Amino acid sequence: MSQRMFASDNSAPASPEVIQAMAEVGSAHRYSYGADELSFQAQQTVADLLGLKPDDAISVLVPNGTGANVLGLSSFLRPWDGVIGSPESHITEDECGALEGLRGVKIYHAPSKNGKLSVDIYDTYLPWATNLHRNNPRAVSLTQTTELGTRYSIEELADFGRRARDSSMILHLDGARIANAAVATNPEDPRAALRAMTRDAGVGIMSLGATKNGGLSCDILVVLPQNLPDWALEGDSAPWSVLKLKIQRSQKQGLSLFSKNRYLAAQVLALYGTDLWVHNAANANTQAARLERGLRDLEAKHLRIRVMYPVQANGVWLQMPGEWVKSLQEEFGFYLWEPEGPGPFKDPVARLMTSWDTEEADVDRLLEGIRKRAQG
Ligand SMILES: Cc1ncc(COP(=O)(O)O)c(C=O)c1O
Repeated sequence: MSQRMFASDNSAPASPEVIQAMAEVGSAHRYSYGADELSFQAQQTVADLLGLKPDDAISVLVPNGTGANVLGLSSFLRPWDGVIGSPESHITEDECGALEGLRGVKIYHAPSKNGKLSVDIYDTYLPWATNLHRNNPRAVSLTQTTELGTRYSIEELADFGRRARDSSMILHLDGARIANAAVATNPEDPRAALRAMTRDAGVGIMSLGATKNGGLSCDILVVLPQNLPDWALEGDSAPWSVLKLKIQRSQKQGLSLFSKNRYLAAQVLALYGTDLWVHNAANANTQAARLERGLRDLEAKHLRIRVMYPVQANGVWLQMPGEWVKSLQEEFGFYLWEPEGPGPFKDPVARLMTSWDTEEADVDRLLEGIRKRAQG
């Protein structure tokens, strides 16, 4: 097995800068549960990143992305509400039913293309809001980048946001890989892209991923009250602190309030308080693009190699003959996405993820491994 795998961006280690920042938290005692200086700084950093005043972005740090999604949505939705997501969304497929099982919020699965929902879903689901037999569709959940490595454009997200506002619904964004999306959307000014895709697009609840982009274990739940419908604000007069307390209670009850919050804050500061998030995501994206170029070249020559989706961030989905899979997996480490893919041969589809630390040589080795098999 090569040292670096293509299984997941979670397979990569934490960036040394992140480990260093955690080590530098120091030996002094501090107040816990987020009442410490580093935690306050992390909140300020998240607000700055999104171009907001601290009171306009409620952020809580959680050890994983599932926590951010479940806490975010369930802090506002009741068991008779529903959230619309794609069939392959993480909240649907990969959170062991946490939102439904722990918090009783139904997930509606709307059809998607290349992992993306269409804005037409509002027309489909809105009439259900007055049907007492159906869960009230009060939120739409998008993932950026999607679970199939594709991206919503800023304009597409703004369309979803407009429709959410008109429909008095919440727009939720699972941003486990939003750094990759921001860097790919505007390499010159990823901060501007991040703000345009979230604050300006009308996102009300989002996760801001860190773990997959060189963090150790931390994602950030961010709530943007100015983008929430009135019903979610508990009356016009609910101040920021009331909303925050509600979310923190949800966090505590949801078992993800980390007592030594300063260690999560240190990760946020190392990544988002500097340009590390940009460098890390840019490298992962660049290596995926290199992999795609090599694979497209092979695809033109080999009937059973197929890049399945547009490569728009740091993942490549590759259909290949089943007989190659085991030995390639042993050599390079990756997950099979579909054991039986589409097409006449029903060949499996593999997911190949690149990470902040993937090197050109890693990609070239993988390409060479596939090339050798393709040449028989
Ligand atoms: C799209 C997406 N959302 C959220 C997550 C966060 O998951 P976890 O709870 O494992 O950190 C992941 C991780 O694979 C993901 O791919």
